[in-house]
Amino acid sequence: MQKSKNLVKHLVLFSMVDKRRMPSSSSRILAAALAIFMACIFLPVSHAQLSSSFYDDSCPGLSEIVLTVVMQAQILDPRMPASLIRLHFHDCFVDGCDGSVLLDDSEDIVSEKSANPNKNSARGFDVIDDIKSAVEAVCPGVVSCADILALAAEASVSLSGGPSWDVQLGRRDGTTANKDGANNNLPSPFDALDTLQSKFAAVGLNDVDLVTLSGAHTFGRAQCKFFSSRLYNFSGTESPDPSLNPSYLMELEENCPNGGDGTTLNDLDPTTPDAFDGNYFFNLVNGQGLLQSDQELYSDSSASTTATIVDSYANNEDSFFDNFAVSMINMGSISPLTGSDGEVRTNCRQVNES
Ligand code: HEM
Ligand SMILES: *[C@@H]1O[C@H](CO)[C@@H](O)[C@H](O)[C@H]1NC(C)=O
Repeated sequence: MQKSKNLVKHLVLFSMVDKRRMPSSSSRILAAALAIFMACIFLPVSHAQLSSSFYDDSCPGLSEIVLTVVMQAQILDPRMPASLIRLHFHDCFVDGCDGSVLLDDSEDIVSEKSANPNKNSARGFDVIDDIKSAVEAVCPGVVSCADILALAAEASVSLSGGPSWDVQLGRRDGTTANKDGANNNLPSPFDALDTLQSKFAAVGLNDVDLVTLSGAHTFGRAQCKFFSSRLYNFSGTESPDPSLNPSYLMELEENCPNGGDGTTLNDLDPTTPDAFDGNYFFNLVNGQGLLQSDQELYSDSSASTTATIVDSYANNEDSFFDNFAVSMINMGSISPLTGSDGEVRTNCRQVNES
């Protein structure tokens, strides 16, 4: 019930946004949206391969185990929930949600961990190992690492004050990694808006998903090197990004001196750094998006579609939370391996021995 309500909102927003872009064909788009909507009600095919009850018999108590380990990790390191949801994202955008991001280098594997978006950046692998060990102790050989990432992402959001959702399960683990895929498919903080849109579209995610999922930058940290060009030499102009709020700019310049070591950490959300809330969108409206890829969703000259969505969330945290749950399920449904494809890894860092 809740989910179909979310779908309705999603579609209403989607059709509204598309109408703005193409007013001449608005009725056709509305009809198409209605058809999709009816299809979603009567034929829930889009996520049919995965199911929230997948481990009900084979591993009851699974989500409580994941929640407990993530909670302990959060106590030791308040940043950890942010790091964990990011791993699920970096998994899903590279050959689907197949646990590929977790594989270490080996004779047959070139790890995604050394790809640019992950190197000295992706973290939380030890916590995934801890969850896997706790799960293996109770239901050995049953739960995939790809599903553990999806469950850890949901636990991370709900433990940080964000929404909860029924995680769709039944993914199997891949036996390959794709370092080039990690370099090419994952969005860069320097990507132009249309590049972000096409990288999301390539995995079946639309503008609503792009804006909604970017809202995960409501917690966690980013290193200076990922945005310092905005402070000193934006697009080669030798001046700051004009979309930056002036007092926020001063704060960031203090934390990230020009020519300094680019590894200093900054809160992605300067208002409530560890809470999952709607402040990210409020920040964008105030010129306080940290990354270029954040702020351009609102401020780019071609941002009318995405800016409308940002505005709608800045005024309504509930609608962000509802849509975040839907978009996480959408992201978690990217090309899963199911049935007898792939395997259930014993150790998330390596493929099983044959
Ligand atoms: C839209 C395109 C996106 C870009 C360009 C992007 C880029 C980045 C960058 C550069 C960082 C900082 C990494 C570092 O300093 O080491 C970061 C952090 C983060 N990203 Fe994204 N991201 C995007 C979308 C997403 C999505 C879809 C999610 C999850 C649904 C997400 C979740 C996070 C989180 C939670 C952090 C903080 C991680 C931590 O503190 O360890 N991002 N992102
Ligand atoms: C600013 O960036 C441009 C283009 O990236 C570069 O050519 C120029 O040397 C930079 N200026 C400074 C002061 O670093």
